[in-house]
Order: sequence, then C-alpha cells, then structure tokens
Amino acid sequence: MQIVNTIEVLRHTINTWKAAGYSIAFVPTMGNLHAGHCQLVKLAKRKADKVVVSIFVNPTQFGVGEDFDSYPRTETQDQEKLQAIETDLLFLPAVAEMYAPDAKTVISVTGLSSIHCGASRVGHFDGVATVVCKLFNMVQPTIALFGLKDFQQLAVIRIMVKDLNIPVDIIGVETVREASGLAMSSRNAYLTPEQQQIAPLLYQSLCVARAAIVAGNDYAAIEQQVVSFLQQAGFAPEYFRICRSSDLAPAQSDDIDLVLLVAAKLGKTRLIDNLYFSK
Ligand code: PAJ
Repeated sequence: MQIVNTIEVLRHTINTWKAAGYSIAFVPTMGNLHAGHCQLVKLAKRKADKVVVSIFVNPTQFGVGEDFDSYPRTETQDQEKLQAIETDLLFLPAVAEMYAPDAKTVISVTGLSSIHCGASRVGHFDGVATVVCKLFNMVQPTIALFGLKDFQQLAVIRIMVKDLNIPVDIIGVETVREASGLAMSSRNAYLTPEQQQIAPLLYQSLCVARAAIVAGNDYAAIEQQVVSFLQQAGFAPEYFRICRSSDLAPAQSDDIDLVLLVAAKLGKTRLIDNLYFSK
C-alpha cells in the first residue's frame, strides 16, 4: 500500500493509473477504522481496479465545542487494517495540505444541509460537502463509496455531485452493526461500559417504530413515543423523524419509501442511526 501525504504525489500516482486505463474507487474517511469502514473498502476492491482511501479528520465539519480535538486518531492500526484488505493507496494529508489559510470557497447544498443533523450542527454539512468536493477533485475517482449509516450525508453528497456535474458514481453501502444492533461508529469508543449496554436501544427503537408504521399507527404519536422511550432509557434525544427517503422531508401517510432518522446523546456521545424501508 502506497502512503501519500501530498496532493502532488497523489495526482502523479492517479495520473499514472488513469493513463494505464485503471478505474479508481475512493473511500473517504476520518480514520479510527472499524468493520463499517472496512466493508466500504472491501466493496470498493470488488468494483474497481485501484482503491484509494483517505484519512483526514476534517476541521471544517466540526462545530465549536464539538469533538475535533478528541476525535480518535489511530493511524498505525488504521494502516494495518487497510494493508490487510489490500488498499492500493492511503491519502493522509495534513490540515495545511488540504486548506490554504486564505481559502474562500465553501460548497453548500442548501435546504437539506439545515435540517435534521444540520439544524443542531450548523455548518457541518457545508464542511462535509466542501472537503468531499476537494477530495473528489484530487482523487478523480470513477466511483466513491459512502455508508448509509450517515443517510443525510449521503443525500447531501448525491445532490452536490448532481448539481456540480462531478463525474463520479456514488455508491451507498449498508450499515455494519454490532451483534447488539448498534451501528458501528468511531464515536462508540467514547461510551462507558454502562452506556454500551444502553446504546443498542437506539436501533431497537427504530425497529419498533417501523413495526408501528407498518401496523398503520399515527406518525406524530409514534414520533412522540420514540422520543419518550429514548428519554426513559437515558438518552437525550435530539430528534426522531419519520421521513420520505427521497428528500428527507416529513413523510405523509401515502408515502411508500420511508426513512426513520434519529440522533441522540448518551452522556457526551452523540449517536445517529436510521432505518429505511418501503411500506
Ligand atoms: P467517517 O465517519 O470516518 O465515515 C467514513 C465513511 O464510513 C462514511 O461514508 C460513513 O457513512 C461510513 N461508515 C461509518 N460507519 C459505518 C457503518 N457502521 N457501516 C457502514 N458504513 C459506515 O463520514 C465521514 O467520515 C466524513 O464525514 C467524511 C465523508 C470522510 C468527510 O470528512
């Protein structure tokens, strides 16, 4: 596996591969890799000739008081994992390599970036869209893989790619879960042993809500019930919403394709999850 820190060397390698006619799959990450990330890389390997993974803890997508400084950085273990699953190139840029101090351009997918997670994490999706756009310009991948765990992030990226005519195919990958149902996340490392027992209830609440929707119950009542269930379990729920999966707007009773979106804090740890299905 080639490890690259600069855009110049990255471009050189990519140009060589393109000249040889290779297709390139790209998996952007912030590191602290777990089985969810590795699933993206393994799928990438099956879909293209060369696989590029980036690890960059992107400062512009963290708000003031969020966990940018404490975000787990586990470079050595990450490199071992990526090596074991035959990643071709790991791009590991420093912040100064990614952002010039006088940079003035921000990519903003309006509307969708201000609701759900974007309402409490103001500017978060602009940070995500901007860094992903920059990474796409650097890597120029044929395809790029993103987890459905971050359902809203994937939706934002799909719109950005369409609106800006970026020539890349975006592939969404199923959420990888612990045996308990808890969605794997780098932030799970923050949970105390006691919180680890409670955390799987987040996904269970989604499954119970899906059953209630399929049974024909009232959406507003289900939303309230899930929020109070999570509160009683020890979470501080930020939101739980029944949405249309096409645009993440509130679902109407005749919508068929739905996604349940939830964000809740457990102690200091913010967890998100979702469940999408057709009625
Ligand atoms: P990060 O949280 O490291 O996630 C990198 C990719 O892994 C994302 O596409 C995310 O959806 C996916 N992923 C995370 N947990 C997963 C799971 N349990 N199952 C399947 N896929 C999972 O998301 C980011 O980084 C950043 O916002 C980034 C896109 C890299 C931009 O900075």
